Amino acid sequence: MNPVNRRGSVEASVPKPAPALLRVEELRAGYGKAEVLAGLSFSARAGSVVTIIGPNGAGKSTTLNALIGAIPAQGRIVFDGSDLTRATLEERVMLGMALVPERRELFGTMPVEDNLLLGGWRQMRLRNHGWRGALDEVYERFPRLKERRAQAAGTLSGGERQMLAIGRALMGRPRLLMLDEPSLGLAPRITREIFSIVEALRATGVTILLVEQNARAALAVADHAHVLETGAFALQGPAAQLADDPRVIETYLGAAGGQGSVAPAAIPTESGARHVAL
Ligand SMILES: Nc1ncnc2c1ncn2[C@@H]1O[C@H](COP(=O)(O)OP(=O)(O)O)[C@@H](O)[C@H]1O
Ligand SMILES: [Mg+2]
Repeated sequence: MNPVNRRGSVEASVPKPAPALLRVEELRAGYGKAEVLAGLSFSARAGSVVTIIGPNGAGKSTTLNALIGAIPAQGRIVFDGSDLTRATLEERVMLGMALVPERRELFGTMPVEDNLLLGGWRQMRLRNHGWRGALDEVYERFPRLKERRAQAAGTLSGGERQMLAIGRALMGRPRLLMLDEPSLGLAPRITREIFSIVEALRATGVTILLVEQNARAALAVADHAHVLETGAFALQGPAAQLADDPRVIETYLGAAGGQGSVAPAAIPTESGARHVAL
């Protein structure tokens, strides 16, 4: 067997990587004169989970707010081949981006179901009656929301509120789901539940951009990871590789660090065993 043939056969047996659904180039954003993001570049392959971890104030929420179009940004944001850098927030949502914000932003006095229906406007604007199906799917995924559908959102527990915020985003059947610290303020058991939801969502094919301070849980669920420190990526690579990186272990996964002290249950995935010792 000559080398050319051997190389050819290897190429034929390796599946082609999925194309990038999201490509971000030199993203800069901030508030007034204060620049927070100093030029971030990264991409997310269709169907993958990409995480951005980093300490409080690093610019994680600013990144997601810039990507969804809630704050102005410079650089380039390419989503499914279209340059959305100048697109409005509504246009980005119509094209399939969704953000579950850090503060959840639910309508506390409104019933659970009305909060969900508000998330269905993309389907309604598309004159697509798929929103009824979307509601059924959300209730199937979150039976607790169905049980509480007439209850005011403000009376839900922290974990249920996070489920509602995720459910509302799913009502638009997004292709890119951006989650801003879904485990923030939740007890360890509820955090595990939320991360198993993330794992289940990835199995549906949706691309997930997950922002977290809980580095251990995020690295366990993600394919690719970036460590954001004061507006720039300090480290990046496959999540498994970062989980083994002494710099990440020392700063974000150390027993004394606290930030990474909550681990999700080991969840088997299509890609095999999880990489982080839990
Ligand atoms: N609305 C705002 N106005 C001015 N500065 C802000 C605003 N939101 C965040 N910042 C500042 O931007 C920096 C990054 O914040 P943020 O993106 O919220 O960080 P993270 O989500 O990583 O905790 C911080 O210094 C924060 O104080
Ligand atoms: Mg934040």
